[in-house]
Amino acid sequence: MANTQRLFGNGILHGGDFNPDQWRHDPRILEEDIRLMQKCGCNTFSTAIFAWSALEPEEDRYDFEWLDTATERLHAADRRVILATPSGARPLWMAERYPEVRRAYRDGRRWVMGERHNHCWTSPVYREKVRQINTLLARRYAHHPAVVAWHVSNEYNGECYCDLCLTAFRVWLKQRYATLDELNRVWWSAFWNQTYSDWNQIDPRAYGLDGMLLDWYRFTSGQVVDFFQWEAEPLRQANPELPITTNLMGFHFGVDYHALAEFVDVVSNDSYPGYDADNPELARAAATQSMQFDMMRCLKGRPMPWFLMESCIDGRSLWLNSHLKAPGLHELEMLQAIAHGSNGTLYFQWRQNRGGVEKYHGAVVHHAHPEETRSFHEVTALSARYAKIAEVTGSLNQSKVALVLDWESRWAYHAALGMPNYKHDWALTNEAAAHYLPFWSRGIGVDVLSSDVDFSAYSLVIAPKLFMLKPGLSARLHRYVEAGGTLVFTHLGGLVNETGLCFTDGAPGDGLEELCGVFVDETDELKGANESVGVRALARNPLGIEGEWRTTRAYSLGLLKGATPLAEYTETWAKGRPALAERRTGKGVTYFFLADFDSAGYERIYASIARSSRLVGACGTSDPLPPGVTAQLRQRGTTKYLVLLNFGTTPVDVPLLGEWQDVESQSHVAKAAPLAALSARVLMSQTSFVA
Ligand code: GAL
Repeated sequence: MANTQRLFGNGILHGGDFNPDQWRHDPRILEEDIRLMQKCGCNTFSTAIFAWSALEPEEDRYDFEWLDTATERLHAADRRVILATPSGARPLWMAERYPEVRRAYRDGRRWVMGERHNHCWTSPVYREKVRQINTLLARRYAHHPAVVAWHVSNEYNGECYCDLCLTAFRVWLKQRYATLDELNRVWWSAFWNQTYSDWNQIDPRAYGLDGMLLDWYRFTSGQVVDFFQWEAEPLRQANPELPITTNLMGFHFGVDYHALAEFVDVVSNDSYPGYDADNPELARAAATQSMQFDMMRCLKGRPMPWFLMESCIDGRSLWLNSHLKAPGLHELEMLQAIAHGSNGTLYFQWRQNRGGVEKYHGAVVHHAHPEETRSFHEVTALSARYAKIAEVTGSLNQSKVALVLDWESRWAYHAALGMPNYKHDWALTNEAAAHYLPFWSRGIGVDVLSSDVDFSAYSLVIAPKLFMLKPGLSARLHRYVEAGGTLVFTHLGGLVNETGLCFTDGAPGDGLEELCGVFVDETDELKGANESVGVRALARNPLGIEGEWRTTRAYSLGLLKGATPLAEYTETWAKGRPALAERRTGKGVTYFFLADFDSAGYERIYASIARSSRLVGACGTSDPLPPGVTAQLRQRGTTKYLVLLNFGTTPVDVPLLGEWQDVESQSHVAKAAPLAALSARVLMSQTSFVA
């Protein structure tokens, strides 16, 4: 069993990607790095991520001396190491000698020699080589006192279409479906005459069967999860207590992070939100980021501490067209992660490279005058803050609201033509974020989860556009609502089963029509910002919603099948048709949204739902906090840590219930907490007044 105490037991992690392999020719740099690390208070370094050629310059000839030296020096300076396995970029000698390790494009061509994230997931040669180097690293460093965790590979991503992968896909399908008859059935292969009579006829590059594409996504993601396990095995064998992580990429489409997270000991995420203080939509961007962090905390199916493996100190991430961060914005961005259960924030990168395409990427240590830069000063200041608030690492967020974001459902939606914005996976995550925003702005904590978990502990479950219903989910949702739960379900949800076949008993189907009391028959995609349909709350509706708002990207026309309408469309020939409905079942209720609504709509609806579900925010109120502000609560027993974040550009007073203490200044805070523009504060309380 991995022991995360080693990683999280020494305060908040603060540091970055550290590449001593790039500076082997100049030992003075290591000494300078150590001095600067101590000076700015950075304590933890993810080391040697792309260093395979430095570790194994020629096949079976190894050089660990430079890594020994760096690890020893870090240890002597009381810095900690998160040691990487190098599979994220394979050595050129290997690519040259064993072409099968090179990933293949759709047309079968092999990748060029260079770059990174470029290996085949299936190649036995690559797996063997990875096993060898990981075993050697494990033997050498798994018990090193400086090493507090493994950083496996880097941002796993991508797919490979080589013959080995295509064969493995066919084997995987055979295991899954056993017979071609079954495969033909679940893929509906009579469509366009694509019936398979031999497993070898299956080619995932063919177009037309969305069931096949869905399975290809599943297979590729599964290969990544399998590859991770392969990598992790020698590490775990050498020291089962040393935690293993791999750095994730937020909502990344290609890998089911719920499946991967099952096998990692600690979740870590890379985050480059590109915040811009002048962007009037900054708060919305921040809420989307918060939703991602809430997902990271819950990837293992329940809240667990996690950490930020990569972030950018000054905004110059190079891959994004982003602005420099205004003063204060960086601290705010980092404390946002802490607010959502992160126990650390690391940077890409510690020291700027002298060459390579990322040589101008933001870094703690710049090419020249490293101690005089704004980056270095801000990092130093943040280390000092982290030292004062270190006690938060023992606490974690607890939420009454669950928001469902499911990878397989996203894949199924993406694979099916004819869905609004189906090509853009972000359309689904953005819509989920629109549902999330009213909770964020009230400081009501949300757990972001897959559809596989037990929802019984949540007061409210929101499942926006949950296109696919996995077996058993409908029954679980029925039980949840009957027992008193509140469910939000929406149009474009509950349409297909786990193989992408449409339900024929309703839409939503698989028995959900009964729970929702609505049948959705037609959906229209609205193009551009000017197209939308007006919506009005019905007079004296049971939820008590008032006012008018508009739809956004898509709206649907439905028939009520037992639900009570709460709001209706007011324009076009949709006028008078239901836009929002509720149905009571047992002790609970289901709210059905027939459209994507604008923020005014979600705000009104969720204000009413929050009130009727008695959801109270971290500041003790269910009213919205000042614009741009959120508050997130971490708890340890009866001790509460309230992290206040202001993404607005004006100072505010955040209303508070109860007595609090500022963890850094020790000052007493009650009734309201002053919060400067673009800033964060951490308060603590022992009293039990917050629900
Ligand atoms: C990450 C990657 C890092 C670095 C960084 C630049 O995606 O893991 O190695 O390239 O982006 O922003």
